[in-house]
Amino acid sequence: MLLKKNSIPFIIFFAAMFNVQTTRAQHADRISPGELWPDDHGEHIQAHGGGITKVKDKYYWYGEERRRGLDSNIRYVSCYVSKDLMNWKFKGDVVAFTDPENLGPKWILERPKVFLSKKTGKFVMYFHLDNATYKYARVGIAVCDRPDGQFRYLKSFHPLDHESRDIGQFVDDDGAQYLVFEDRPLGFHIVKLTENCLGIEREMCLIRQHMEGGAIVHYQGLYYAIGSALTGWRPNANKYATATSLEGPWSDFKDIAPKETNTYNSQSTLLLKISGRKDTTVVFLGDIWKPRSQWDSRYLWMPVEIGNGRMWLPKPVPFKINVREGSTFKAD
Ligand code: GAL
Repeated sequence: MLLKKNSIPFIIFFAAMFNVQTTRAQHADRISPGELWPDDHGEHIQAHGGGITKVKDKYYWYGEERRRGLDSNIRYVSCYVSKDLMNWKFKGDVVAFTDPENLGPKWILERPKVFLSKKTGKFVMYFHLDNATYKYARVGIAVCDRPDGQFRYLKSFHPLDHESRDIGQFVDDDGAQYLVFEDRPLGFHIVKLTENCLGIEREMCLIRQHMEGGAIVHYQGLYYAIGSALTGWRPNANKYATATSLEGPWSDFKDIAPKETNTYNSQSTLLLKISGRKDTTVVFLGDIWKPRSQWDSRYLWMPVEIGNGRMWLPKPVPFKINVREGSTFKAD
């Protein structure tokens, strides 16, 4: 092919563009806590205050969509899918709601968590629904037939007539599903969901400790509950307690990381248990919030040291996950 002399700079320019795009969306072989985390389009993952729902061999990550340029009247929840927990494909925003209950400007939809009802096969999303002053304090529910379809707004309520702000999700080894929620006058509730996941079956426990970003994991016969103190977007030293039953009694709360690191500047959102052929690993999932540039908020995912009643979040380093084996290891 004969090229005109003056077309060469353009070819170099397009080749460079192409190269940039392919390197941005390249295959990830690790998780790098605190760094930008590109999805399959090379865009930083927007799934803040999120939760994870496992469906067969796929993980769905839902979270607050906070990318720039969104319509300020709408609240969005994003959905990403992955088989290896390191490479995430963006499935779009599964929620784009306008103010559903006349909550006024700056209304709040935060910390979405999706439960799959074994009974109905439906996906039920819970989220913190509030007005700008955080006084409405309810959970909202939306449903969908698919994990990655458009969720339909259903209702909001005060769980067991209590105020509810930050929420968390927990699925036990027997498949029972639990919501945890922060009730400002009282503490931290753990409640069991009904089989269709549309309501609360019963209260398991009220832990008289104020905890946001609440999460629970069941590991080697012990339940570990974790959460942060109430300092808004500012990080604090997250703490955990243990119990042999969800009903308690719960131990005293202890720090999960050196106090002065403020949980390495993050706030808990989930404890993810990965059970594989060889091992079982628990990964701490947290948010490193940037209140003034929320779209740039980062994630702190890091395997914890856990066992015999102790949980410890080591200093974050890049790591790899082998989901099949259930293991994680330090990336070189
Ligand atoms: C945090 C909470 C976030 C958000 C924020 C607002 O404590 O975990 O989800 O509500 O406060 O200040």
